[in-house]
Amino acid sequence: MSESSLPKVIVDGPLAEPVVRLLADKVELLPWSVLDTGAADVTGVYTFGHPYVGAAEMDRLPALRVISNYGVGVDHIDVAAAMERKIPVGNTPGVLDGATADHAMTLLLAAARRLIEGDRYARGPEFTAYDPGYMLGREVHGATLGIVGLGRIGVEIARRARGFNMRVLYYNRHRRPDEEQLGVEYMPFSELLEVSDYIVLSTPLTEQTRGMIGWPEIERMKRTAILVNIGRGPLVVTSDLTEALQQRRIYAAALDVTDPEPLPRDHPLLKLNNVVLAPHLGSATEQTRQRMAELSVENLLLGLRGEPLRHEFRLS
Ligand code: DGY
Repeated sequence: MSESSLPKVIVDGPLAEPVVRLLADKVELLPWSVLDTGAADVTGVYTFGHPYVGAAEMDRLPALRVISNYGVGVDHIDVAAAMERKIPVGNTPGVLDGATADHAMTLLLAAARRLIEGDRYARGPEFTAYDPGYMLGREVHGATLGIVGLGRIGVEIARRARGFNMRVLYYNRHRRPDEEQLGVEYMPFSELLEVSDYIVLSTPLTEQTRGMIGWPEIERMKRTAILVNIGRGPLVVTSDLTEALQQRRIYAAALDVTDPEPLPRDHPLLKLNNVVLAPHLGSATEQTRQRMAELSVENLLLGLRGEPLRHEFRLS
């Protein structure tokens, strides 16, 4: 039995250094394995790397007062079950929009201009002479971008795309007239798929959005379309996208997230040149990760004291 009087919090580790520093002397950290048996005196759960927290896990912690997530997406937490049990779920919106939008543009540009392929070629033995005929990509400026999910991150992507002189369309569950002053146009999903040169998925993973891009949706896209996913892997049916890229049914994809994540090391997607992959780096800057640490720790500490969180995620 531990003698500490600090609140007990279960964490999935290893935690990043800023989180460790912010939690030091404020809580007693317990390993995730405590959830296997449960504990009567644990009052907090802190999720760092997307471990699953469902009703069964919550019920093994009868004194649980708060679940705090390092990140904005909470699809790995059964929020409905938490709400039923009156356990607030904290997340970190607002502090990572700029970094994630920058990353979406990075991926889009890299896929359009074949940057990763070019990098490999420039380092390899085949690059012996400049050839104006090789590795032609697709233009970004002046092209049409369709944003699926015009939340905070989607709005930041729209701002950047307007700077590239792109026509920007969006599809969202609810139309966002206030954001349309940015010069973005609402379009129904199926039409957006047909007219966009670039399609960026920046929508949360829910039962409604799971698998929203499969073969039928890919078939609506232009053959020159580029799909960028910075939301969650299961928004896309991986086998359908793989086949579409193998057949060159679309031009390319750029994926920050995959399903599963990571992909098996022998997955056919990893062998394709027309896909750019990143290991879930959307918000991975030093500055943003520091802000995420601060907000998620603040949410945790407020919840442990029974006070309202600075940001609580609720189902709408
Ligand atoms: C998020 O904020 O949801 C990112 O995916 C990091 O967890």
